[in-house]
Amino acid sequence: MDLLERMRSPWGESVFVHISWDLFWASLVGGLLFLLAHGGYMLFSQHRKRSKDEVDRLEVERAGLPARITRHGFVARVFHWVMAFSMLVLLFTAFLPIVGVRFAWVQWHWMAGILLTASILFHIVHATFFLDFWSIWVGPRDIPELKAELLREFGHDVPGPKSGKYPLGNRLYHLAIVVAGLGVVATGLLMIPRIRTGVVTRNPYFLSDVTWGLTYVSHGLAGVGLVGLVIAHVYFAVRPEKWWITKSMILGWITRRQYLEHHDPDRWDVARLDRSDVRDVRAVHVSE
Ligand code: HEM
Repeated sequence: MDLLERMRSPWGESVFVHISWDLFWASLVGGLLFLLAHGGYMLFSQHRKRSKDEVDRLEVERAGLPARITRHGFVARVFHWVMAFSMLVLLFTAFLPIVGVRFAWVQWHWMAGILLTASILFHIVHATFFLDFWSIWVGPRDIPELKAELLREFGHDVPGPKSGKYPLGNRLYHLAIVVAGLGVVATGLLMIPRIRTGVVTRNPYFLSDVTWGLTYVSHGLAGVGLVGLVIAHVYFAVRPEKWWITKSMILGWITRRQYLEHHDPDRWDVARLDRSDVRDVRAVHVSE
C-alpha cells in the first residue's frame, strides 16, 4: 500500500499529489479502536480523584474558597466553541467527498479554514496577554506529576502532586492539537491561491509542482491526524467521569469540591486573582 500518491508532472518528474486516502481510514479506525480500548480499560482503572476525607479536610483548611470556581471565562468558551464548529466543518467537508458524498466542498472548506485561522490567532493573543499562558504547556517540571499519576493508575495511594489547572493528559493533547492545527492552517493558507475563492487572485503557479505536492501531503497528514485527535477529544468530553470538565466549558465554572478533588490548590491558585479570572472570580464572590 502506498501512503502517498504520486503523478508525473508535464516535465516528466515524479511528484507527490497528496496522501493516500487509506490514511484517512487508518486514522478513523485507529481513533475508534483507541476509544474501545480506553473504554474497556476504564472499567478496571482506579478512580484518581482525592478521597472524600481528604477533600473534607482541604475544604476546612481552605474555607475562603467560593462555592463555584471559574474554570473558563466567557471569551475562552466562545473561542472553544467557534474553533470546534470550524474544525468539524473542515473535517466533514474534507472527508465526506472521500467516502463518496459529492458536493461543492472546497468553498465551505476554505471558509471554515479562515474561521479556524482567525479563531486561533485570537486565541494566541488572548492566551498570551489575558490567560495564565504557561498553565497549558508540559515540560520537565511535570515529571513528578507523571510519576504520581502512573503510580495512582496502578492502584498505589501516592500523595504526590495533582495537576494545576489542566490535567497532564489535557496538556499533552493540547500540544498535539497545536502541532496538527498549525500544520493544517499554514499549509491551508498556502493552498488558497490555488483555488477559486473570488477573494484572493488565483495563482496556481507560485509554487513548483514538487512544493505543491509536499504542501498537499503535509496538509493531508496533519488533517488525518486531526481525525484521530478530534475523535479522542469528543470521546473524553462525553465520558461520565469527565462530564464535570465538559460542563465547565459550557457554564464556565466547577464546584469547590470538584476543584479540590482533582486539582492541586497550590498549583492552580484561584485565590490569587490572575489576569484571566479577575472579572469572573469577583463576580462569583459578589454572587455568593
Ligand atoms: C481540520 C482541519 C483540516 C482538515 C482535516 C483538512 C483536510 C483537507 C483535505 C483532506 C484536503 C484535500 C487535500 C488533497 O486533495 O490532497 C484539503 C484541501 C484544502 N484545504 Fe484543508 N483541511 C483542514 C484545514 C484547512 C484550513 C485551516 C485551511 C485554510 C486556512 C484549509 C484549506 C484548504 C484548501 C485551500 C484546500 C485545497 C482544495 C483544493 O485544492 O481543491 N484546510 N483539506
